[in-house]
Amino acid sequence: MKNEDMLMHVRGTSRFVDDIPAPEGCLHAVLFTSPVARGKIKSLDVSKAAAAPGVAAVYTHKDVPGLNQVGHIFKDQPLLAVDSVEYIGQPIALVVAQSQRAARLALKLIKADIEPLPAVFSPREAAAKGLIHGKRRERVTGDPASAFAKCKYVAQGKLFSGPQEHFYFETQRALAVPGEHDTIKVHASAQSPGAFHHHLAEVLGIPMHKVELDIRRLGGGFGGKESTAVWITAPAMAAFLLKRPVKLALGRNEDIATTGKRHAYEYDYKLGLDAEGKILAYEIDLYQHAGACADISPAVLGRSFLHVSGSYHVPNMRVSGVSCRTNIPPNNAFRGFGVPQGTFAIEAAFTHAAELMGVPAEELKRRNLLRDGDTLPYGVKLELVNAARCWEALDGKTGLAGRRAAAAAYNRAHTDTKKGLAVVPVCFGISFAQTALNQAGALVNIYVDGSVAVSTGAVEMGQGVNAKIRIVAARTLGIPLERVRVETTNTSRVPNASPTSASTGADLNGMATKYACERLRERLLEFAARHLSCDDPAGVSIRDGGVYVGEKGPVMSWEKLAAAAQWARVDLSEHAFYATPNLHYDMESEQGRPFAYYSYGASLTEVTLDCARGTYTVDAVEVVQDAGESLSEAIDRGQVEGAVVQGLGWATMEQIRYAADGRVLTGVNAYKIPDIKFVPKHFGVTLLKDSRNPFAVCNSKAIGEPPFIHGLGAYLALTDALRGVRRDKAIPPLPVTPERAFMYLHGPEEGE
Ligand code: MTE
Ligand code: MOS
Repeated sequence: MKNEDMLMHVRGTSRFVDDIPAPEGCLHAVLFTSPVARGKIKSLDVSKAAAAPGVAAVYTHKDVPGLNQVGHIFKDQPLLAVDSVEYIGQPIALVVAQSQRAARLALKLIKADIEPLPAVFSPREAAAKGLIHGKRRERVTGDPASAFAKCKYVAQGKLFSGPQEHFYFETQRALAVPGEHDTIKVHASAQSPGAFHHHLAEVLGIPMHKVELDIRRLGGGFGGKESTAVWITAPAMAAFLLKRPVKLALGRNEDIATTGKRHAYEYDYKLGLDAEGKILAYEIDLYQHAGACADISPAVLGRSFLHVSGSYHVPNMRVSGVSCRTNIPPNNAFRGFGVPQGTFAIEAAFTHAAELMGVPAEELKRRNLLRDGDTLPYGVKLELVNAARCWEALDGKTGLAGRRAAAAAYNRAHTDTKKGLAVVPVCFGISFAQTALNQAGALVNIYVDGSVAVSTGAVEMGQGVNAKIRIVAARTLGIPLERVRVETTNTSRVPNASPTSASTGADLNGMATKYACERLRERLLEFAARHLSCDDPAGVSIRDGGVYVGEKGPVMSWEKLAAAAQWARVDLSEHAFYATPNLHYDMESEQGRPFAYYSYGASLTEVTLDCARGTYTVDAVEVVQDAGESLSEAIDRGQVEGAVVQGLGWATMEQIRYAADGRVLTGVNAYKIPDIKFVPKHFGVTLLKDSRNPFAVCNSKAIGEPPFIHGLGAYLALTDALRGVRRDKAIPPLPVTPERAFMYLHGPEEGE
């Protein structure tokens, strides 16, 4: 079963926000944003802009009808700036006009007198000044200090991982249409129906039942449309005040320059091993470059914090983390939600430790892989661990020792080019670390013609969640896929929905769908037994769209059953709710069971580096990923491929550069994402065989984010090649762009 949207995407018939025909009289909104990274607004004059041709209104914070606030975790983010600005791109005013062009022309007529103030762009500097979001987190497990004293090898240093632009095809956008009784309907490209619904009501100052948020699909979200409600509440406010439909759509460069990104992190690491290469102790301090408002950063940091030990058993550990308040646009979620950053440090530390021991890094990693019965630093005793199984499957496919020997032989024979390789194991906790978010609702309607409509809180963004929900519904009801349609995500049908993120979309919403369908099936079976006057009601079943009595049948079609049940006054609509059981976490003791289960994987990445130029190719990536009993192999493979390529981009070429004043310099013309030519010549994806998962719907496993981690393989393989040439420098920062590789080989020490 393919992703049901796929054909429509390639034919250009899928509807995104911009494809909804603009309602009559639709106006266009554009934001006037701060040109300075930090400053005091001394005066703001919008009168000339308001009088410009085609302009319907210009709004400032004074015009916000409800709460001037879109802060996601903390109420620290005004929709429109009041008297100060904290980052370049912070919204100050909203221009609404007959066309986007007229609105953009009017922007130039706004006069803002802003007194610049000193800004902070370094996370370490922010931390030192106490500029942090939320609390510093720390956990000590075992006794790291005395364990380090017993270590034969101690690798210690600093590391850096860079930011990443989401680069979804569809930039941030929304269309708001006012209705009767001060109601409003908003079509948006947004991952968080429940939270954005709430933000909309708060900003407009009306109850949530007057706001309807409808989401068909996103042209990609990748986490970037999960938390920042600016671009949806702004047009809604204008529509509400003007009583006219209003659309807001960011231009590509506007999106790159003003929206949040993957967080850059800085690290202090210390990894200690015994003579056999077993980890005895690990210390890691995380400095998260969060930006001017907390947004969702503390939650992202929390997930990094829970994943710093990667796929390894670490008996003694100290971890700390701070979310640093700097004067850049607030960063947010991005595929992996902090796990890639958390995992990066221990993976890079292994490169360093392996050098000290004089063994290949993969040898050390294998010795330290998590096993059944191991306890994680936050107190979870692991079961059903597939880390070693994935590793063995990868080894069976590739012959890791042989690949290492071949690379070494190549490197002995060549001086101008060098090969590097890396093995990356993945262990990714599944559930929202915030226990409360692990809930979902589903509404399933069976109509009298036997067609079925499913509504959930899940947002389709290319990951195929709707196709999976459709499979779950059809399987559970015993009817063909064609009979089931998945509706738009709509806050009037499924309220208070958690975001579709943390890779839990199919797990949570699929389970709620299954529950609803199970109840409908039970009800219909009971009715069928009565209707058919069966002696043995337990022998009645629904399969392949027909009713069976024992092996006899079909005695009645599904369509006839639906019609007969409705006529007999049987309820054919069901709402069900799922809350992941047995989750808890205590932020004080930093102990608990935050995840329902773990997704595992292992990959081999091979690169060739041109030592004169610093250019390179990623020659091969071989991935084994644990998808449980996959609901759809085509979708899951697609998710692995997409995630890995996105991870390769993060690790190699995607570099965001800022000017000294905090401006983003890398617009669309200077920011490179991987294209089809960058995809490795050999790219193998295998889903782990015979994997069961009792903790998610139909034994499946989450797949959206975990494979992103394999992208680290390119960074580690390039580092492997670079360190083969020289080791008198610190391990290079991520991403290893060709420029960085060149400077590592030939230039002075690089600072970030
Ligand atoms: N795949 C596509 N094509 N587009 C996306 O925006 N987002 C990713 C992943 N895969 C994304 C994607 C992210 S960040 C997450 S959290 C998951 O999909 C969310 O969907 P799921 O929970 O249904 O897996
Ligand atoms: Mo994904 S970063 O959890 O939306």
